[in-house]
Amino acid sequence: MTMKNNKHQQGTIALPYLKFFNAQLYFINFFGHILVFGLGLLIGITLTFCLKNVSFNFQFQQFQDPPFSFNPSSHFSHSPPISSNLSNPSNDHNQTNISINEKSLVITSNGLEEFLKIPMAMHDMNEEELFWRASMIPMIHKPPFKQIPKVAFMFLTKGHVLLAPLWEKFFKGNEGLYSIYIHPNPSFNETVYDQSSVFHGRRIPSKEVKWGENSMIEAERRLLANALLDFSNQRFVLLSESCIPLFNFSTIYTYLMNSEKTFVEAYDLEGAVGRGRYNYKMSPLIKLSQWRKGSQWFQIDRSLALHIVSDKLYFSMFKNYCDPPCYSDEHYMPTMVSIKFWKRNSNRTLTWVDWSKGGPHPSKFFRQHLTIDFLERLRFGSTCEYNGKTINVCHLFARKFTPHALDRLLRFAPKLMQFN
Ligand SMILES: *[C@@H]1O[C@H](CO)[C@@H](O)[C@H](O)[C@H]1NC(C)=O
Ligand SMILES: *[C@@H]1O[C@H](CO)[C@@H](O)[C@H](O)[C@H]1NC(C)=O
Ligand SMILES: *[C@@H]1O[C@H](CO)[C@@H](O)[C@H](O)[C@H]1NC(C)=O
Ligand SMILES: *[C@@H]1O[C@H](CO)[C@@H](O)[C@H](O)[C@H]1NC(C)=O
Ligand SMILES: *[C@@H]1O[C@H](CO)[C@@H](O)[C@H](O)[C@H]1NC(C)=O
Ligand SMILES: *[C@@H]1O[C@H](CO)[C@@H](O)[C@H](O)[C@H]1NC(C)=O
Repeated sequence: MTMKNNKHQQGTIALPYLKFFNAQLYFINFFGHILVFGLGLLIGITLTFCLKNVSFNFQFQQFQDPPFSFNPSSHFSHSPPISSNLSNPSNDHNQTNISINEKSLVITSNGLEEFLKIPMAMHDMNEEELFWRASMIPMIHKPPFKQIPKVAFMFLTKGHVLLAPLWEKFFKGNEGLYSIYIHPNPSFNETVYDQSSVFHGRRIPSKEVKWGENSMIEAERRLLANALLDFSNQRFVLLSESCIPLFNFSTIYTYLMNSEKTFVEAYDLEGAVGRGRYNYKMSPLIKLSQWRKGSQWFQIDRSLALHIVSDKLYFSMFKNYCDPPCYSDEHYMPTMVSIKFWKRNSNRTLTWVDWSKGGPHPSKFFRQHLTIDFLERLRFGSTCEYNGKTINVCHLFARKFTPHALDRLLRFAPKLMQFN
């Protein structure tokens, strides 16, 4: 009884004390908050004032932690301390120092217009900057403006596009529905394209490509990254200098835009030139049963293009373990797409090529091969699936054609392919 009383008494004594203590705590907290708020306000005002004169140096570094390094200039010495990890300048001195200050801010009637501006095909971004920018993706898929989707025609060439006059005819009258990108050898002199050509000024910053080596998939990814900078590009077609279109622009545009599937050829092949090129060091990321082969000439959509330029995992695996006689351009995309994006892939390509003669290179076609019959066979000579239906238009492009075939192509094209 007494014990209970004692306890009760202790309780009654303790309660007001606690209340007082709580009140004190509350006051401390309250003033603490006011203090923090005041300090924050002060810092804010100071910062705003400083920003008028001072420029930030952002260093865009590798996509590691932290994504940005904040590099305060000497004017900042009197401002509040910033976590040392952030202010530590990177040890890589090769990065572009981008300064964003008031002078570089452009105030327009519509800021979105500024944002959507497309850089020139030839720009000064380095690869790291280019790929980072290209990988941007809006989480809201429907744009708040009317966008006419374009097809990006990406030419991976040694020199000039051999059948350029045919392509000129193909593109004529379809301005606004396509964009062109060319990745030639860096030594290529682009003055072959005059001002009036659709290929004029469409060269991107390129690097040397060696047949069958990893530089080939690097160039493909580089083309994709450059084409992704234009938000209106929704389909991406890889072409060589010896490719020709088999249909007119409107047919090809409609076929690509309406397709529910992407076109990355992928098949499983036994033997030395198929599974034989697999390296067990790629396991467990890539299993032998997942190894695929296919033509490098793809036709894909924006979503897959974004995934390809953002991929580091599979790309580095191929860089490390796929060297000739493993040709990464025949395996990288077919394998990665079959593992990760197979649901929306057709496993076929829209680019016709003749491997019937065997050997490491497909057949070339000269003047004498070019007849109406031959072209009609390429256009309608096979069956395939398109959006769940069986159709007989399975190829929109063909290779490899030499400049000797040009005069006949130019003669047949208007009537046969209904170029206008
Ligand atoms: C800051 O760097 C130190 C070592 O330099 C590290 O221990 C700490 O975790 C880093 N802090 C953050 C937030 O990255
Ligand atoms: C960028 O700035 C840092 C520090 O100010 C400097 O060390 C580096 O050389 C600069 N890099 C370039 C490419 O100018
Ligand atoms: C630094 O930049 C130069 C010229 O832009 C380039 O040649 C060099 O490979 C770069 N080095 C590194 C380590 O990125
Ligand atoms: C490219 O070719 C043009 C004309 O053939 C020539 O005048 C020019 O010097 C060349 N440019 C380069 C960089 O070789
Ligand atoms: C393109 O070709 C198709 C037939 O293949 C034809 O119906 C269409 O009118 C042509 N388009 C133009 C713009 O000429
Ligand atoms: C494409 O290949 C993948 C596996 O490699 C398979 O799962 C898929 O069903 C194939 N798609 C079509 C349309 O044949």
